[in-house]
Parts: sequence; C-alpha cells; structure tokens
Amino acid sequence: MCFSSCHADHEQNCSTSAVRSVGSSDVDPYSAVAAGIAALYGRLHGGANEAVLQMLRHIEKVENVPDFLEKVKQREEKLMGFGHRVYKNYDPRARIIKSHADEVFEATEYNPLIEIATELERHALEDEYFVSRKLFPNVDFYSGIIYEALKIPPGMFTVIFAIPRTAGWIAQWLEMTGDPDKKISRPRQIYTGAREADYIPLGERGGDDLITGPPATRPLS
Ligand code: ACO
Repeated sequence: MCFSSCHADHEQNCSTSAVRSVGSSDVDPYSAVAAGIAALYGRLHGGANEAVLQMLRHIEKVENVPDFLEKVKQREEKLMGFGHRVYKNYDPRARIIKSHADEVFEATEYNPLIEIATELERHALEDEYFVSRKLFPNVDFYSGIIYEALKIPPGMFTVIFAIPRTAGWIAQWLEMTGDPDKKISRPRQIYTGAREADYIPLGERGGDDLITGPPATRPLS
C-alpha cells in the first residue's frame, strides 16, 4: 500500500507528459498509457530503480563508496537514484520507502545492498558537491533493493511502478479528453543551428561513405 501511493502519478513528470502528449491525438487510453510506460522505463525516470541496483553491485562494498563518489564528482559516474527536477529538498517518498525496508527484510531475505546504499546517502548528504546541487535520494533509490528482496525480477520493476501510476495517468487522460477546449499537443521548435552547411552530393559519395555515414556538414576539401 505504501509503495503504491509512493509511486502514484504527480504533476507533469516525463511519463505523465508523454501520456498527455500522445493522448492529445485522440488515441485510446491503452495507447496513451503505453506511451507513459515507455517513458517511465527510461533509466533517468522510473528505470532508475534497476540502475541503482547495477550501481550498488558495481560499487561492491561499503569501503568503495568514497572512491565512487569522487568519480561522480569528476563526472565519470552518475549517482543513480539521486536528484529530482522538482523535489529539491529531499524526495519525501524516499524517506517513506526506506523506513519500510527493515519491515520488508523481516519477512524476506536481507538484502545487503542496503548497507552500500545507506553509506552512499550518508556520505553524499555531508558532501558540499551534492548538498549545493540539492541532490538527495529519490523514490527509486531504495525501491529496487526492496523489490529484489521481494524476488521481483528487474524486468518487472517498471510494471510494478506503472500499476499505481496508471490511475493518475488515466485521470489525466480523462481530464484532457473531457475538456471541450482540448487541442492536440504540438510544441513548436526554434532552429538555432547553422544556416549553411557544406555537403557532398549523394551521387558523388563512395560506397564506404554510405555505410559509415559521413557527417553531412563535412567541409569540402
Ligand atoms: N548524479 C550526479 N550529478 C547529478 C545528478 C546525479 N544523479 N543529478 C543531477 N546532477 C548534477 C548535474 O550534473 C548538474 O550539475 P552542474 O550544475 O554542475 O552541471 C546539477 O546536478 C543539476 O542537474 P540537472 O541535470 O539540472 O538536474 P535535472 O533536474 O535536469 O535532472 C534527474 C533530474 C534526471 C532526475 C537527475 O537528477 C538524474 O539524472 N538523476 C539520476 C537518475 C534518477 O535517479 N532518476 C529518477 C528520478 S525520480 C523518477 O523519475 C521517478
């Protein structure tokens, strides 16, 4: 129950905007929700829970946490399950999910990855780099560890996330389709690229060029 409410839809996150954008073309709700699921699956969105597990396994042990964080600061690594476009003062859902981890482990096998996760959080919250950028654990930081303890296969993580979110997606879809002023989503684009570019006419390009694909803007010698 707690997990479901923590994963509910909220505001115009990436997947919800996808549902609204695709739904605005008057597709059926299944197609609109499929668009939301596709967006949710990405590792910067709901797919982060699986990416967190991969990161924790890559870190391997608690002693490696400081080195890993140094690599994040050098931009060689990304701290998955951290950061949020809107929650800049801690994601309240992360706190709720973490608080239930021990209860889950009482009923399941203990997942030792939580020790690396807790150490990562502790170090990051004391480090000026993360504090000044307002990088805190988000909803995905602890959820994958718990799903794994519950023996949910990683391929099902997005499904578990999408189930509670679908209620919100459908509410968004209903609100939009019931609006007599609804229009198709059609963002405009302002081109800021080059006005002129050199190119090799198609007929003059060699076979190899066609396979390896030279950049169309390659300067003519
Ligand atoms: N690890 C390291 N540095 C980060 C991270 C991170 N996870 N997130 C942001 N930063 C840094 C950026 O490099 C940037 O630093 P700079 O100002 O020195 O260039 C600064 O923090 C601001 O980052 P933005 O890219 O502006 O943050 P944005 O709001 O665009 O991104 C996002 C939010 C996508 C969630 C990002 O924090 C991220 O990639 N997090 C990791 C993936 C993740 O956990 N996603 C799940 C989010 S929750 C959900 O969708 C259900």
